[in-house]
Amino acid sequence: MEEKRILCIGLVCLDIISVVDVYPAEDTDTRCLSQRWQRGGNASNSCTVLSLLGAPCAFMGSLAPGHAADFVLADLRRYAVELTHLVSHPESSFPTSIVISSASRGTRTILHTNRNLPDVTAQDFEQVDLTQYKWIHWEGRNAAEQVKMIQRVEEYNRTCPAHQRVSTSVEVEKPREELYQLFGYGDVVFVSKDVAKDFGFHSAPEAVKGLHSRVRPGATVICAWAEAGADALGPDGEPVHSDAFSPETIVDTLGAGDTFNAAVLLALSRGQRLQEALTFGCQVAGRKCGVHGYDGIV
Ligand code: FRU
Repeated sequence: MEEKRILCIGLVCLDIISVVDVYPAEDTDTRCLSQRWQRGGNASNSCTVLSLLGAPCAFMGSLAPGHAADFVLADLRRYAVELTHLVSHPESSFPTSIVISSASRGTRTILHTNRNLPDVTAQDFEQVDLTQYKWIHWEGRNAAEQVKMIQRVEEYNRTCPAHQRVSTSVEVEKPREELYQLFGYGDVVFVSKDVAKDFGFHSAPEAVKGLHSRVRPGATVICAWAEAGADALGPDGEPVHSDAFSPETIVDTLGAGDTFNAAVLLALSRGQRLQEALTFGCQVAGRKCGVHGYDGIV
């Protein structure tokens, strides 16, 4: 039987990336080492990684017309990401990020613009045939709508035998109050370092311990913390840790978190244990930091 797909729901945008040695000072005129266009957006980046890791996957998100959208669509096709759930908004503008990636410092500074592109709604999500997917991942955005989508999956799961159920995960990346309602949903909750800090935690082990009471019983909370690796707490309450696998030379950290999420959820969707999944996530994210873009991660 064909492997069921993983569906990622969230943003696709255009990243215009300038790679510099040192982050420029304001009001200076310098040359960058290289410049490129790259498809971006957390959910879309995670799809790229899933595809490269050999997992059939699909992307659901909003699209506005224009050159940037054409570029992004062609790129999604190049990576064999299934696109049946794109929602078109002909009157909106396509979101774009200007990214300054500093090779020597391992930083990526993002200036994002998204003026009027609506996120996918629970109503859009009604069109999704849940029998096609084994896992659905939400990049936390329009949280109230996303809660309704997850509830639809939960209801569906109650009606079908265990092996046909759809697992769910959410990513709470931006330190925004509205997104925090997502903690209570999903089998797996990915929390970023920024969000953990917003709650006053100083490390990933502290964060997963402190946030475990906010996720629903039986769920897993995972927090990656750059070169400190990643920590998780699953349903059994046993803390799990993986060190980071930093490359010899860091060249590009843009999308490292999206890479980590994709690798972890792929491992979990294939039945691996939390420890194995976390280690795999750190390994793949580490490889990503050693290459420009994603093509070198496998
Ligand atoms: C990386 C990323 C970029 C995008 C930005 C949006 O995680 O998804 O591709 O420009 O974040 O916030």
